[in-house]
Amino acid sequence: MKKNIVFSGIQPSGKLTIGNYIGAIKQWVKMQNKYNCFFCIVDLHTITLKKKNFDLNNAILDTLSIYLACGINPKKSVIFIQSHISEHTQLSWILNCYSYYGELKRMTQFKNKLIKYNFKNINSGIFFYPILMASDILLYQTSYVPIGEDQKQHIELCRNIANRFNNNYGNIFNIPKPCILKYGSKILSLQETKKKMSKSDNNYNNIIYLLEKKENIFKKIKLAKTDSDKTRKIKYDIINKPGISNILNIFASLTGEKITNIVKNFNGKMYNDLKYETSKVLIYFLEKIQENYYNIRNKESFLKDIIYDGNIKAKKIAKINFLKIKKKINLLK
Ligand code: TRP
Repeated sequence: MKKNIVFSGIQPSGKLTIGNYIGAIKQWVKMQNKYNCFFCIVDLHTITLKKKNFDLNNAILDTLSIYLACGINPKKSVIFIQSHISEHTQLSWILNCYSYYGELKRMTQFKNKLIKYNFKNINSGIFFYPILMASDILLYQTSYVPIGEDQKQHIELCRNIANRFNNNYGNIFNIPKPCILKYGSKILSLQETKKKMSKSDNNYNNIIYLLEKKENIFKKIKLAKTDSDKTRKIKYDIINKPGISNILNIFASLTGEKITNIVKNFNGKMYNDLKYETSKVLIYFLEKIQENYYNIRNKESFLKDIIYDGNIKAKKIAKINFLKIKKKINLLK
């Protein structure tokens, strides 16, 4: 039987965090064994944001090395670079013509960027970003998209566009489903627990990088905001106790232990006890990833070969599927 297709991607916009791992990459590693997986490095999304002294080429190799270090296996999955497969942007133009200004304007991520940039200097790439993302997904006839909670709305839009297209032209696109973890799909920023942990945050104390040094882990987790309710009880309650629930989520995601069990084990203990143990779990876990990473990151020709192979595999499928789409809309006889 033909395996279902999984597609996901991460922007090479900076150093990846434990949020990227817990919310996305961890699921990818598991899915490799069951599905036909495409894991993309979405560099065209990254250029919507302009950063000074940012070396995109290096960042792509960093991201690839992290994928590999976390256990994404190029023998099982297709790992490739978005900008190298021209069909992504070509399909993106077509889908632009089947989506509405109004629906893009309503995207929460876009609205947040408008506020962040004070309605000035917002480039159109940021506006059209979700359409390029829809193209990434639809181009491969994807069934499942493992992502973090923040991308849910973009997948909803992608599904709407795909359905619209199908209603016009017959069943051309598979309608993809998001895979969002119940716990861990949104690791919160350590200091500002109202927002997610983000690799583009300027406050480094909000983030634990996958390449974070041991000393920093203890320090940052210790500094993490916890909740000042009277009980100071260790309890999972994401609404009223987001800080401590976030720490519990990190602990649970990395050990595979159930949250209820962890809470039971820490019964009567202090926030700091949980924080200390969580730091130890993180250090143990990140050690292996970091070791793998530093073993491969400077082997540039090895990394470039992986990209080369992945691009060939992705291109083959993208080309066939894109031709079918062109035919459907009478761009090609
Ligand atoms: N927008 C996603 C993010 O920032 C990255 C992305 C681009 C993506 N294209 C995708 C994720 C396709 C899943 C599928 O996290």
